[in-house]
Amino acid sequence: MAPGPPELPVAVLISGSGSNLQALIDAQQAGELAADIRVVVSNRADAYGLARAATAGIETRVLSHRDFPTRAEYDAALAELLRGFEPGLVILAGFMRILTPGFVARFHGRMLNIHPSLLPKYRGLHTHERVLDAGDNEHGATVHFVTEELDGGPAVIQARVPVLPGDGAERLAARVLAQEHRIYPLAVRWLAEGRVRLDDAGRVMLDGRPLSAPVQLDEIEPD
Ligand code: GRF
Repeated sequence: MAPGPPELPVAVLISGSGSNLQALIDAQQAGELAADIRVVVSNRADAYGLARAATAGIETRVLSHRDFPTRAEYDAALAELLRGFEPGLVILAGFMRILTPGFVARFHGRMLNIHPSLLPKYRGLHTHERVLDAGDNEHGATVHFVTEELDGGPAVIQARVPVLPGDGAERLAARVLAQEHRIYPLAVRWLAEGRVRLDDAGRVMLDGRPLSAPVQLDEIEPD
């Protein structure tokens, strides 16, 4: 068998359930993602995602924000922790912390986030409720590079989800989450394969061409 691409060393940061982490683990275990998930870090000791990581045999660390007086000190400790694992990519997967500019700069072009909305719409929290309140007929999720601007970095891929009659926030969130689990492993795969990168002008390059808009999941042919 021809050898696949070398594995990209990855660190995943979480705060909660870690279902996106699980999607990455599943893709990796299925041989669909050439990534070596070296560590999962949570700022909360009770994050269920830590158990998911342990079950998969991945190292875990808890770094509680409560142990640090300032955001800058927390982020410095987090950077130091990550340094030991030498990640080529940092994946934010439900990591509920705003990162300092210094931390973001350190991982420029090497840090992804997933956000439950069709960015640039609905940055920040409570996206599902806000979509319903606005009466939108469409919602979704976006994977983007992390920049200093909260939920504002260049987007790689989006999945669109129709808002259905009778949807409440929970039902809508569940349908969006299911799509998150499709687009996040795909985006990470593209990075690991060297197909996606951020260029010096801050543009997302896919297969050597700048994206004028994020890839839409339904544009992709199934393999
Ligand atoms: C997801 O909705 C993600 O978009 C948001 O936080 C949630 C994390 O869910 N950033 P999980 O912990 O991956 O299950």
